[in-house]
Amino acid sequence: MKFSASDWQKEIYLNGFAGIRPKINVDPVALEQAAKRHMSRKAYAYIAGGAGMESTVQNNRQVFAHYSIVPRMLCNVSERDTSITLFGHKLPSPFLLSPVGVLEMVHRDADIAVAKAAASLGIPYIFSNQASKPMEQCAAVMNNSPRWFQLYWSKSRELVASFVQRAEHCGCSAIVVTLDTTLLGWRTRDLELAYLPFLEGKGIAQYTSDPVFQKMLDEPEDRVPVNRKITFQSIAGLVKMVNNYPGSGFIQKLRSGRPVQAVQKFTTTYSNPATTWSDLSFLQQHTKLPILLKGILHPDDARKAIDHGMDGIIISNHGGRQVDGAIATLDALPAVAEVVRKQIPILLDSGIRGGADAFKALALGATAICIGRPYVYGLAIAGEHGVYTVLRNFMADFELTMGLAGCKDVTEITAERLQRH
Ligand code: GLV
Repeated sequence: MKFSASDWQKEIYLNGFAGIRPKINVDPVALEQAAKRHMSRKAYAYIAGGAGMESTVQNNRQVFAHYSIVPRMLCNVSERDTSITLFGHKLPSPFLLSPVGVLEMVHRDADIAVAKAAASLGIPYIFSNQASKPMEQCAAVMNNSPRWFQLYWSKSRELVASFVQRAEHCGCSAIVVTLDTTLLGWRTRDLELAYLPFLEGKGIAQYTSDPVFQKMLDEPEDRVPVNRKITFQSIAGLVKMVNNYPGSGFIQKLRSGRPVQAVQKFTTTYSNPATTWSDLSFLQQHTKLPILLKGILHPDDARKAIDHGMDGIIISNHGGRQVDGAIATLDALPAVAEVVRKQIPILLDSGIRGGADAFKALALGATAICIGRPYVYGLAIAGEHGVYTVLRNFMADFELTMGLAGCKDVTEITAERLQRH
């Protein structure tokens, strides 16, 4: 098998025999701690943080302990196949990369490094709406490897249509609409630091590279000017905003006013809390790609997704970043799987830290699993190589867990393999 777990494991041990320890921690807790040392305080707060008391972040992890895998013996697992088929495409493993915004805070190569690592393993990368690099640049380094696009429903429908059209041109094979961020959650760590990266023009590359968004900047603003104290920090922030805006010539960009307009326009239009189920038909009219709804946690919403002709759902609470005290995704999964009855794929993210977590989610009815923060920690430590290593570790851990539990392939991972406490 390509990317075999045993080969990867052997490589690690043989390196160790030569005195070389893994540069990227295998243990997920140590990985986060190491990444923290490579990140600014603000970047770490933004990536690691959750909403409110962060109880959803903790919940997401704790529920995995409510289920134990019960391994079966003598099953001949000498050949192990971790592949899955999703929307007609065969994937080497059940993993995808969740969209994570503002990766420039973590590493200068940002989304490009992630795209390269994902492509070298054939793992689909879901481009973030809040990416630091335009989707075209990521697609350009991925050959034919699978990529999807994640969309925030903007107040401008024309912009929604433009993003989706660009995604199609970039070879994306699905559109993921994130439903849970119609408003920005109460992010305690970011609020403590009073820091929002978008105000420095970070994480808005999909917008500034978009022709419809550029046209929106030409529209006159009817906002009342706000009097703010000018401080050294606000000037430094303005400099960053201008530098982060595409194009060269600092003075020219500053004089054009566009960097400031772009940030203002973004903050007033990036999401639309008035969005309802009936808006989804607009998206269906503008793309032929499968559409998945991300942020589904209630079985009735899963049923509605099917009723509205959606092609898939992602059970997600946004890594605990939106609603504090929310249901953990693994807890939401059984009831959702029961109403979905395999009519459409169910993906799951939030709290996945190893192969056993993925195994449990698959056993409870997920079709595929999305990884979020761990690959960002790999990125922080070593760019593309860091992301690649984290993904290989996930794949190897999963393959070995599957085989040792007595499963030859993903179809054998069923609820009977688990015991609930
Ligand atoms: C945006 O998607 C965020 O979680 O900050």
